[in-house]
This record gives sequence, structure tokens and C-alpha cells, in this order.
Amino acid sequence: MSNEALSNLSHESRRFDPPAELAASANLTAAAYAEAESDQLGFWAKQADRLTWETRWDEVLDWSNPPFAKWFVGGKLNAAYNCVDRHVEAGAGDKVAFHWVGEPEDDSRDITYAELKDEVCKAANAITELGIEKGDRVAIYLPMIPEAVIAMLACARIGAPHTVVFGGFSAEALSSRVLDCGAKLIITADGGYRRGAASALKPAVDEAVAKVEAEQPGLVENVLVVRRTGQDVAWNGDIDIWWHDLVEESSTIHEPEFFDAEHPLYVMYTSGTTGKPKGILHTTGGYLVGAAYTHWGIFDLKAETDVYWCTADIGWVTGHSYMVYGPLANQATSVMYEGVPDAPHKGRWWEIVEKYKVSIFYTAPTAIRTFMKWGDDIPAKFDLSSLRLLGSVGEPINPEAYIWYRETIGSGKTPVVDTWWQTETGSILISPLPGVTSAKPGSAMKAIPGIVADVVNDEGESVPDGSGGYLVIREPWPSMLRTLWGDDERFKETYWSRFPGMYFAGDGAKKDSDGDVWVLGRVDDVMNVSGHRLSTTEIESALVSHPKVAEAAVVGATDEMTGQAVCAYVILRDTAGDGGPDIVKELRDHVAKEIGAIAKPRQIMIVAELPKTRSGKIMRRLLRDVAEKREVGDVTTLADDSVMRLIAEGAATSTED
Ligand code: PRX
Repeated sequence: MSNEALSNLSHESRRFDPPAELAASANLTAAAYAEAESDQLGFWAKQADRLTWETRWDEVLDWSNPPFAKWFVGGKLNAAYNCVDRHVEAGAGDKVAFHWVGEPEDDSRDITYAELKDEVCKAANAITELGIEKGDRVAIYLPMIPEAVIAMLACARIGAPHTVVFGGFSAEALSSRVLDCGAKLIITADGGYRRGAASALKPAVDEAVAKVEAEQPGLVENVLVVRRTGQDVAWNGDIDIWWHDLVEESSTIHEPEFFDAEHPLYVMYTSGTTGKPKGILHTTGGYLVGAAYTHWGIFDLKAETDVYWCTADIGWVTGHSYMVYGPLANQATSVMYEGVPDAPHKGRWWEIVEKYKVSIFYTAPTAIRTFMKWGDDIPAKFDLSSLRLLGSVGEPINPEAYIWYRETIGSGKTPVVDTWWQTETGSILISPLPGVTSAKPGSAMKAIPGIVADVVNDEGESVPDGSGGYLVIREPWPSMLRTLWGDDERFKETYWSRFPGMYFAGDGAKKDSDGDVWVLGRVDDVMNVSGHRLSTTEIESALVSHPKVAEAAVVGATDEMTGQAVCAYVILRDTAGDGGPDIVKELRDHVAKEIGAIAKPRQIMIVAELPKTRSGKIMRRLLRDVAEKREVGDVTTLADDSVMRLIAEGAATSTED
């Protein structure tokens, strides 16, 4: 267990009770636990009734062929209709769906549900005109602009699964995702605004299209380009089309078709333990039920009065479930912000909270720790009294950050919901209930009503309170991933083989003396850097693809700000000599090019050898010791134990980014 995890445990005794007013008015009450326990499928059927179904399901769950679940069997619905049209039909057309805030100041736009419906219909007609049909895949590579939401909903509306690729990923990453899911259309922009300047996106798409073309000619039929910044872009008249030329000219009338509950809604790629990202498949009915239920219950959303803001980028699952599908299904009014927290000043987020009177705010521990470092005087300049509920997601939140968040941002009154979930789970599974739980800083507490989670030992047996083990989910849930795109075997192997009959999340966890869950982090070769999932193997492959590199080993080392940081140990090829004076920069840039800037190692150490067991396995545990500046652990199983001495000496002289 890491030192941080141990220090977290000393906070077990601190608890924060829900404010009385919230306890009295909460959407989800303590009774929901018992209700779900006594009739789990009945409970989920009740949650499914939040949505509008064109055809009601015959069976809540078909689990006859595990781990392949079918939820709401026979039911038919349209996700975009549920997120938009039905609210307009119910008379809420004038309600703001998004207060969109661009990064350049004074660049903002309020979008009502009626306007969103028109925009989504136009985009649905436009992409239909481009030949996109039910079942075709569409890649979306956009900054945080309204068109990103509109494009997702337009795809959902016509039954074309989308795969949103984070705008910070490289051309290489984009092309591999497009190829893996066979996307015929890419929706992108000329660029976006970041840190006060226009950054480019289209060149990466051009490069990705060229790579795809080399592997699968003709796959990408069109690139639909939003003009966001007005910068010059290269233009391929055969496939490129401006959004404003096509979408703006399209009709606002579009009849939604209703799809089977199990019709694919989207594929989201995430890092696994191998070099190749996994395409997590979510389907329509169960996913939307999970997103809507948890957004309503965990964030206690009161749609008439709340203003909700989730700061996640749309390129991650949090952006999907808690910026798009959950809030819109619940008719929420949300904030959507294009830029970074410190442009043009470090109080930008709090200025937005003050301006729009944000009442529910959801962000990641890395951001909270960054604000802590910047100082209390920055949020103190703004009126944050509208906030009534705070959320955290993406990585374990250290108790110090939790308490600072509650005290400084939430003026010591707001509950903080520490929500555990994953791309695979589709929606939050473990979290305090804001009106019920007496929450402990640093603990995600317990499985929400409807979910059966546990911590088990190596044999798959439930561990007693006070012990640690592996986090598992014992029963299927509606928003669970259905498979990995095109790879049922890998789906079974990755999640369902370690502990038969249970979903293995890949996280280590501990039950404290009250049985509350403390998620301790990944137990596999997946790192969590600033709440972003990165695979050690994927970065190793990227490094090894550089002509000067013979071998590479990557570990995630504990980092005060980012949770974990990428540390790489690299052996150069003989032909590369010492690699030249800029070798570290060259390799860091190479990783950015292969994967994206988020994957750049914090530290790269050029070494002569890597510590290996006699059977040739790299001992990452020892490399982690060096990266975390600890005494190197047991080296007796090493083939050559002098290797570690050399590495430790080398590390002491290497520089960090
Ligand atoms: O290790 C857990 C961590 O993030 C992983 C999931 O990453 P991803 O699929 O990218 O989804 C992130 C947003 C849901 C988990 O396996 N994680 C997520 N939330 C928490 C967390 N670790 C501790 N506490 C959390 N609240």
C-alpha cells in the first residue's frame, strides 16, 4: 500500500454529515438501499421510467449468457429524443440547456433546449446527407464547443455510434481509433482556443486521414469541419466539408427513429494493460438509465433551480455521462467551458461559478490540488455562495484536498461526493449519497443503491472489514460496458476471468472498520495521471518505436500534484551512441506525437540495463522505488543485482520536467 494510502487511513475518524436541509429534501434517500436490495431488477425498472420509451421492455435483464448482458430487452427509445425533444414537448423549450463559455472573454452563448433541438436536427439531417446510416461509426475530434454536444446527439439520433477522441490526442491516436472502429466520418474543427491562443486541430486530422488511407483506402468518406478560430487550414475538396456550409443549410425538422435498447450508442477508447487502447462499447437504454439515475441521485439535481457544471472534457467518459447524457436526460441547465482554468487569469473557474450561480460543481482531484497550490486568495475574490454540492472524480482524492475543497470552495457547508467509476462502468457506482451519507474525506464510501460492490482477496473471497484486496462488482448493472469493440474474447479475459462471475475493475481497495470502501488505485499496468488513464505498455511501445531506442520500461510514480507521473527508463540502441544532447526532449516529444501531450514522461532516464528477473521479466516494482526516491526493495530475484545500483545512481543525476 502506498504511503499516501496509509496516511489516508488516519483520517478515517473524520466525518461530515449532510446539511439538515439537504437531508430533508434529497432526491435519493436511505430507503433506496433497502428498496434496491429487496428487488434489484424492480429498482432498475423504476429508474428506467425516468426515460421516455417508445416501446416498453419485456424483460429488465437477460443475463443468460454472462458476461454479455442485455438490459431492458425489447425496449425501444432514442437517446437524443430523451435528451432534447421530450423537454421541448413538455414546455421547457426556453430553458437553458447550456451556458456555453468560450475561452476568449465575452465569447459566450446560451443555448436553450429548443435551440439545441433545432441544432441537433440540422446536424442529423446533414450527416444523413453525407450517407451516414444507423450503425455507421462517426469519430468526433472537437474542442469544447457546442458543436461537440450537437454532433454527439446527432449521431445518437440517427443510431450512428460515435467515438469521441480527446482533442489532446495525437494524429496517430486518432487514426488508430478511426481504424479500429471503422469510422466513415470525422467531425472536427479548424482549431480551438487554449491558454489565450488559437490551437490547431485540422492538421492532425489530415495526418490521421492519410494514415487511415494508407491502411484502409476509402474508409473515411468525409471530414466535417467546424470553423471555430478562422485560422487557415489545408483543404481536401474530395472529402472536407465545412459545417456551416452543410449543417446550417439543413432542415430543423427530423423525425427520430426509435432503436432497440441494446443498439450501440458509443465507443470510448481507454487505456488497458496492453499497447492497444480498448474500445469500450456502451448501448442505448441501460447506459442512459445509469447516467440519468446517478446524475439525478448523486448530484441531487433539482432541474428547476440548479445550475450544474462538470469541468470534464467531452473526450472522456465523464464528459459523456455527466456533461451530455445524464444532465440533458434530466433537463438540467449546465455550464460548458472551452478553455483552461488559468486563462486569462487563475480565477477564471470561480468567475464562471459566480456569473452563472453554479450550484453543483464536479471536477477532479488534480484540479483541486492545483487550486490549493495557487492559494486561497484566488477563490476568495469571488462569490461562491451559490454552490451547494461538490463532486470529485477520476482518482483517489487525498483527504487534505477534500477538506480544502469543502472548506474553501464549499464554504465549509457543501457535501463532497467522491464518486468512483470507470469508462467501463458508464456511470457512478460507488459514492456517498449527499443527503444521507456521513462522508469521510478520501473514501468513496459505499456502492450506490442498485449496485453490489465488494473487496475480495486473491481467491475471490470477500475480505473482512479492516482489510484490503481487489475491487469487484458482483451483479450486472444497466450502464455496464457490453463488450470491447470487435473483441469479445478480450472483454471476457480482461474483466470477467480473474474472479469468475464478478466484474474485476482493476483497482485495489480497502474496507475500513465500518466496511466503507477506500479505493487505492490500479493494481495493473494502468497509470492514473491527472485523472487520465494511461497504459505503461502503450508508452513503452511509443518509446520503442523511436529509432534510437532499444528497450523501455515505464512506471507510474506517486506525484503530489498529478496523482501519478510517468517515469521512463530507456536503453538506447548501440547505433545511437549517447543519443545526443537533446535525447530526453526528443523522446518526450516522440511520445507526445505517438499518443498525445498528456502521455509525455515527467522523467526519462537513459540506462544501460533494466532490472530483470532470471526469466527476463522487468521488475517494475524496483523502478518505481527509484522513481519515488525510496530505498530500493528486495533485489534477490534479479538476474544481476548490480543493475539497480547503477540505475539509482543515474536517477540521482537526471532531471525532471
Ligand atoms: O483507478 C480508478 C480511478 O480511475 C479509473 C477509471 O478511469 P477512467 O476509465 O478514465 O474513468 C475516469 C472517470 C470515471 C478507476 O479504475 N478512479 C476514478 N474515480 C475514482 C478513482 N479512484 C479513486 N477514487 C475515485 N473517486
